[in-house]
Amino acid sequence: MIDEIRAARDAALAQIERADSIESVSALDTSLLGKKGSLAQLKTQLGGLPTIDEKKAAGQAVNEALQTVTAAIEARRAELGEAALLAKVQAEALDLTEFVGKPTRGHAHLVTQAWERLEDVFIGLGFQVAEGPEVETDWHNFEALNMGAGHPARGEFDTLFVDHAPPGEQPGRTVLRTHTSPVQIRTMLEQEPPIYIVAPGRVFRRDTPDATHMPVFHQIEGLVIDRDITMADLAGTIEAFTKAFFGAEFTSRLRPSYFPFTEPSAEFDIQRPDGSWLELGGCGMVHPNVLVAGGLDPEVWSGFAFGFGIDRMATMRHQVDDIRDMFVNDIRFIEQF
Ligand code: DAH
Repeated sequence: MIDEIRAARDAALAQIERADSIESVSALDTSLLGKKGSLAQLKTQLGGLPTIDEKKAAGQAVNEALQTVTAAIEARRAELGEAALLAKVQAEALDLTEFVGKPTRGHAHLVTQAWERLEDVFIGLGFQVAEGPEVETDWHNFEALNMGAGHPARGEFDTLFVDHAPPGEQPGRTVLRTHTSPVQIRTMLEQEPPIYIVAPGRVFRRDTPDATHMPVFHQIEGLVIDRDITMADLAGTIEAFTKAFFGAEFTSRLRPSYFPFTEPSAEFDIQRPDGSWLELGGCGMVHPNVLVAGGLDPEVWSGFAFGFGIDRMATMRHQVDDIRDMFVNDIRFIEQF
């Protein structure tokens, strides 16, 4: 009997060894260890053995054989599982050696290029680069910029409010910043004048994308605070910037306008060599209320501010007709610049 048990065990182990898929191992699991399996069959014959000792010895041998077979099935299953995984990983792996030869080199995105060139030009004019958060408080984004609750100019910003409220703030008073102007306030509160900063960054409005609008876009803000700053300093800075950024053949002008955070306010335009004018952004002398919100005495300090879109600069520079093209990340488009 013991010999039969060993033979059945060895036959089972040999079958398991030959199984070459998870499915065939599962089939063996059922056939070898189930009621109809050879070891189970032998077990039913134990009662027919003549002595207790023989029954005991054969029973023990069957149980050991069953354990051995069970362990072998598990081991084979694990082995095949690993092999299957390895095969899958290998099948899905990218063969990077395909790209031998001259590696193609990437470059900064159009918007990043414009952003960095703007920073370079303003650093050249003596400005420093400042930053602020993209999720802003209502106070920094509107109130401190002379747009209290209910101010009609708020209607021009299709604001995205967020549910989150920082400690001490009411919910519904936190926004995705609609412009880079809140960085003016943060800078005034953080550093002593004289202040000469530009703040490039991402801004958000509830706009439907079209050829000239994106709900996420980029602006650059400028702020100067010093003693005896006048509108002439503003006009001179805009002109110096225009020539440095666009070239000596370009010139600029200010046109009266209105912004709540500046007084007087202006739009600034640039003139191309062909004589045509192009509106670029807003600017003006920092409103006394804004200076006060920034913790400064308007009797001592004065300043100017300006802000314009970076994406526009990129589309203009490269004659891109549709601003959306810049954000779909089609490599064939991006590679051209
Ligand atoms: N924040 C304005 C906007 O998003 C742009 C702007 C206008 C910024 C006048 C300024 C400014 O600093 O003085 O439309």
